[in-house]
Amino acid sequence: QQGGAASGPLQGLYLFLFRSAPPSLPGPPGHFLIGNMMELMHDHLPIHLTSLAQRYGSIYRLKCGNTTMVVLNSGELIRETLVRKWSDFAGRPISYTGDIVSGGGRNISLGDYTEEWRAHRRLVHGALQRCCQQSLHSVIERQALHLRKVLMGYQGSPVDLSEDFTVAASNVITTLAFGKEYDKSSSELQQLHSCLNEIVSLWGSSWISALDSFPLLRKLPNPVFARLLKEVARRDEIIKQHLDNFKLQGHQSEDSITGSLLQALDKHQNTKEGQLLTDVHVHMATVDLLIGGTETTAAWLNWTVAFLLHRPEIQDKVYEELCTVPEGRYPKYSDRQRLPVLCALVNEVLRLRPVAPLAVPHRAIRNSSIAGFFIPKNSVIIPNLFGAHHDPAVWSEPYSFKPERFLEGGGGSTRALVPFGGGARLCLGESVAKMELFLFTAYLLRDFQFILPESNVFPPDLRGIATVVLKIKPYKVIARPRPAIGP
Ligand code: HEM
Repeated sequence: QQGGAASGPLQGLYLFLFRSAPPSLPGPPGHFLIGNMMELMHDHLPIHLTSLAQRYGSIYRLKCGNTTMVVLNSGELIRETLVRKWSDFAGRPISYTGDIVSGGGRNISLGDYTEEWRAHRRLVHGALQRCCQQSLHSVIERQALHLRKVLMGYQGSPVDLSEDFTVAASNVITTLAFGKEYDKSSSELQQLHSCLNEIVSLWGSSWISALDSFPLLRKLPNPVFARLLKEVARRDEIIKQHLDNFKLQGHQSEDSITGSLLQALDKHQNTKEGQLLTDVHVHMATVDLLIGGTETTAAWLNWTVAFLLHRPEIQDKVYEELCTVPEGRYPKYSDRQRLPVLCALVNEVLRLRPVAPLAVPHRAIRNSSIAGFFIPKNSVIIPNLFGAHHDPAVWSEPYSFKPERFLEGGGGSTRALVPFGGGARLCLGESVAKMELFLFTAYLLRDFQFILPESNVFPPDLRGIATVVLKIKPYKVIARPRPAIGP
């Protein structure tokens, strides 16, 4: 540099004048009033955001009111943001409607990254782990055997299995949470799920998200919002009843998550952590586990059966593999190594239909950068997991259902999958979900062959309906019992 044009005091001026400004994020032009709001109104947002990535690249911005949204469409960028720079991006957008749904931000999934939130997540994570170590495997086995009984009862008639999958997934969570399981016909269960489903779908609707971006709309009558408020009140009443019953019955041991949480609150009463947490946190954690753990797993099971109807020969391959489990017993989660085709199937359905396709939006809690672009504090980050799982730079024939890509030599790598997000906000139920997906699928495919109701019926439409959870449209299937395996 010495003696060059920009040495000494001139260097500062030179840099000031000629340094290149940080590149600004690409993105579609927006309307002067509503920005790119219309881009978020598409009926299948994950597909739409993925198509925008073809035009603007794997990172682009959308403007919505005063908010800048940054959409990430590759696994690489999602890992950079959520995992490597987790401490910059662990926040959640603070929103008017989110606050209502999350009991004033006091749940785990929507709560912002604060000391209180960290104490809450640690507490629930610990309780979930203790409970899972003791009983998760047997709880899932019990529900899988119950599901088998229900399917046998259909005696080969065409049925929509979605409700049975919801009951099975829900019973895993309610057993872990309060040691209770319900029958499909139970009015308690039906009330709980109709209310939770309603909240998830209403909250995902554009009528509601518009209230967050455009505060003036809150002054106008909004029947969708009125319904949301009613359902949140109903949810809180139902959960309160469950927790009150639980306390009355005196199950305060660490066997269940609720027991473990209540004990931990007592134990930590005099610590700083204990002072941050109250019964409201136990209440909201129950909501988190029920919402996070029921529709996701149930939707995934529905997708799996639907994909298998498109490629029935894969069912036979998994079945043949399951026949090799010693002594004809049902597989354990520890049998994963010996069941590569089953594991490949689980991974391929997670890839094609990550059931939380846009994860949950994150918020930049300080100025930061992604892929060299400056990202200002408070930007909202949307990890498009669906887009990352269809990235043609990573996956060959990204839209084809090919479990074999995850078998040796198939070219697919589980390291490129991000169905559970990552970093500080990694799905709290990841290990519960992984065991459920493996065991439920193993039990189902060991005992049943899934076939179309009639040979002239088309296999189910695989586009799906995307709200917060990506679900398949209802379809009917026949669960034909397989010959018994075993001695
Ligand atoms: C969050 C996926 C099952 C509880 C999430 C997120 C994803 C996800 C993508 C957002 C991560 C982020 O913000 O970056 C899935 C999938 C599942 C599944 C694909 C099953 C196939 C479960 C289960 C439970 C659960 C079984 C409960 C036992 C939660 C909770 C959060 C969460 C509480 C919020 C975490 C936080 O904000 O810190 N999940 N999930 N999920 N999930 Fe899951």
